[in-house]
Amino acid sequence: MLIGMVNFANSMLASLIASIPDPGIPSAPTPTMFNPVGAPADTILDITWLLVGICGLIGLVVLAMIFFAVIRCRQPKGDDTEPAQVYGSNPIELAWTVIPLLIVFVLFMVSARGIFDIEKTSPPDGAIEVRVIGHRWWWEFDYGDFATAAELHVPIDEDKPTDIYLTLESADVIHSFWMPQLGGKTDVIPNRINHLWLQVAKAGTYVGQCAEYCGNQHANMLITVVAQPRAEYEAWAANQRREAVDDRAVAAGKHIFLRTACINCHTVRGTVANGTFAPDLTHLMSRDTIGSGIARNTPNNLRAWVWDPQNIKPGCEMPSMKLTREEVDLVCAYLETLR
Ligand code: CUA
Repeated sequence: MLIGMVNFANSMLASLIASIPDPGIPSAPTPTMFNPVGAPADTILDITWLLVGICGLIGLVVLAMIFFAVIRCRQPKGDDTEPAQVYGSNPIELAWTVIPLLIVFVLFMVSARGIFDIEKTSPPDGAIEVRVIGHRWWWEFDYGDFATAAELHVPIDEDKPTDIYLTLESADVIHSFWMPQLGGKTDVIPNRINHLWLQVAKAGTYVGQCAEYCGNQHANMLITVVAQPRAEYEAWAANQRREAVDDRAVAAGKHIFLRTACINCHTVRGTVANGTFAPDLTHLMSRDTIGSGIARNTPNNLRAWVWDPQNIKPGCEMPSMKLTREEVDLVCAYLETLR
């Protein structure tokens, strides 16, 4: 019966969360901690239900006692005598001291065990290790030999879940990295290195979110984790390692891109563009979204973005470069070759 109640509560919460508008990340399930796909997220959900159960039970007992007192101990009409007063009852005082202490002790021990299980100070065997840098307002994923933005790809093997071990750093202010289906939430703090262990047991696209207010576009600092079969992942990674293709057909757009301030912030490996302030564009078109998940990466959206990002993501660090419509078309034609 308890399991039935838990399942019911799960589905109620899932449908409540599903009514929140789609974040713009294509075909992704809604971010929810109630549908865990790995060991750390399982642990967190188990502790959550234990807490909800115990606190709910206490609430019910207190409510029942209040109703009992209100209904059974009501002052009869015409009776204005004071009821018997109880002073210094040792059994009662012991009960309301010892029982809460025991409950707090149990909750403390369960939480402490959960925290020790989840907080790993070194990567588990075979874990995929990625350095994550929080920027206003996008996430950089540095795999060592290449870097990408907004989308973290990880391999999935059939026989066992994939461990992901992240090193978290910030380029500016405090952010917080949160993938509710894969594990816990960890703050990303300037001048400090934090670590986060996540686990994913089945292929799919998972979404998460910056969970620490970091300015204007905090709400649009989205994270996508693409967990894909190992062969697919290896193909993706091999493509990411390549330098950008040099397509003569889009030389005009490339020329505009390289002579504009784009290159001070963006990197396109294989060209002089080597900025690190903004996302690496070497394989821009391999990403499903632009603006850290705010819009699908379609030709129209890309044009609108290059024309003036402030229309799409007001307050973001990328200004309009004041290009003409023709120049925007040429630059986008070039960007679209960065596959
Ligand atoms: Cu980054 Cu909120």
